[in-house]
This record gives sequence, C-alpha cells and structure tokens, in this order.
Amino acid sequence: MTAAVIDGKAFAAKVRAQVAAHVAKLKEEQGLTPGLAVVLVGEDPASQVYVRNKGTQTVECGMASFEHKLPAETSEAELLALIARLNADPAVHGILVQLPLPKHLDSDLVINSIDPAKDVDGFHISNVGLLGTGQKSMVPCTPLGCLMMLRDHHGSLAGLNAVVVGRSNIVGKPMAQLLLGDSCTVTIAHSRTKDLAAVCRGADILVAAVGRPEMIPGDWVKPGATVIDVGINRIERDGKQKLVGDVHYASAALVAGAITPVPGGVGPMTIACLLANTLTACCRANG
Ligand code: GUN
Repeated sequence: MTAAVIDGKAFAAKVRAQVAAHVAKLKEEQGLTPGLAVVLVGEDPASQVYVRNKGTQTVECGMASFEHKLPAETSEAELLALIARLNADPAVHGILVQLPLPKHLDSDLVINSIDPAKDVDGFHISNVGLLGTGQKSMVPCTPLGCLMMLRDHHGSLAGLNAVVVGRSNIVGKPMAQLLLGDSCTVTIAHSRTKDLAAVCRGADILVAAVGRPEMIPGDWVKPGATVIDVGINRIERDGKQKLVGDVHYASAALVAGAITPVPGGVGPMTIACLLANTLTACCRANG
C-alpha cells in the first residue's frame, strides 16, 4: 500500500483564496483592510525567509503588511515600546513577533505584552488558557493547519488515537488540545517517553513535531495511519542541501494511509492560517 499524499500546498492556496475573497468583501462593504504587523529582531536567515514570505502572502490576500525589522541588540524596553504602539494602532489587527528572539530578550514577557485580541500566533497566556478550556481564542497557526488537514481527510476525528510527538508550546501542546477538542484520545510523547516506537504504533493519527530529521521510521507507523509531519529540517545529503521532515518519508509512505510531504505539507498551511487568524482578528475587532 502507498499512502495518499495530503497536499498542503493546494489546501493552503484554497484557504488563502477564501481569505482573499472575504478581505475583498470587507473592503467593499465596510471600508476595512485587515493589517498584520510582523516584528523581526536580528538577522536569523531562516526567520528572514519566513518573514518575507508572510509579508508577500499578506499583501497577495489584499491585507496590509507592516514589517518591523529591528537590530539584534534591540533592548527589551524598545521592543515593548514598539508592541505598545502596535497594540494601540487601529490599522493593525494582528501582531506576530518572530521567534526565536535573541537570548537577551525574555520571550514570555514580550509575547504576553501583545494585546491578546491581536495575538494571531495564539501564544499569549490568555489565548493558551482559552484554548485549554475550550473557549473562543486565537489558535496557533501550525496546529490549526494540521487540524484543518486532518478534518478534511477524515471528517470526524472522534475516538481516534492521536499521538503527538513533541511537547513545544508552539506546536505539540496546542496540537494536543485541538485534537482533544475534536474528541481524539490524545497522547503527548517526547524525548523521555519510554518505548516511543510502541507508542507511535498505537496512533491512528501521528503528528511529528520534534525537529529531528527523519527520526520516525516507517516501522513506527500503524498500517493505514494518518501521518502529519511538522518537521522542516535542513540537511546535507550527497553534497546537496535538502529539506526533510521528522518522519522518514519513503518508509512511512509505504505503511501509512495518508501522509503530508516535506516540503509542501504542513509548511504552507501555517502562513495560510496566520492570514485567516488576521482576518478573524479584524472581524472580531469590528464587531
Ligand atoms: N518561529 C517558528 N515558528 C513560528 C511561529 O509559528 N510563530 C512565530 N512568531 N515564530 C515562529
């Protein structure tokens, strides 16, 4: 058996087209333009690429993009002052501070200074609490994208065994909350989990978010399972740079029922969900 490939690139294009149509309607009927501010501190090359892609796609959807690129040595006070200005700016509906921040900046403090209503990453402690208690919140973009693909593929997820490998605040924990919200039986596994292979083999839905290249081989995958690979790892193979996921794709695709590729799976969905969250924030701010 060879797994069905879940095409995140095509799905993301569909989501972006829906967002763009809604944005056009908002403009025409209410004269409103959703605005997204992205703050990048320092010059991490991967972050620069992400920020550039976010800016381009924001504009392509008809929204306003405000990019704030600050030097690596920016002080906490300066960054907090910028966020306070963005919080107060009615043209800004969404604020994203690109992570990781340089070490001298306290990420928790910075994230929690964002107005929760503008926190399109869903990382503010209020949004984390709202998600955990099943209340209306801003939902982190990567797990939201994964959930959308899972719902699209399965319809109902109720009763399925879901294993999330990875316990980060950005992906693992909110992913588990979302799957629980859809009535999955959820296990969060991580680097200290005993017999990780056996835990993974019990999964109807296996979400890999550990950031270790090809760590999960095909023989950890239950036959017919749906595999969502969140990993984006740059490796060198045969003298060439290559992007691989946290799952060993070739072996997993022989066993799984469905699988997301890397690239072209979860990655494009993250930015599409960011745009959708910005639109949501704009609509909520304007009744
Ligand atoms: N760095 C890697 N992923 C993300 C993300 O989803 N949001 C932010 N703000 N930074 C990131």
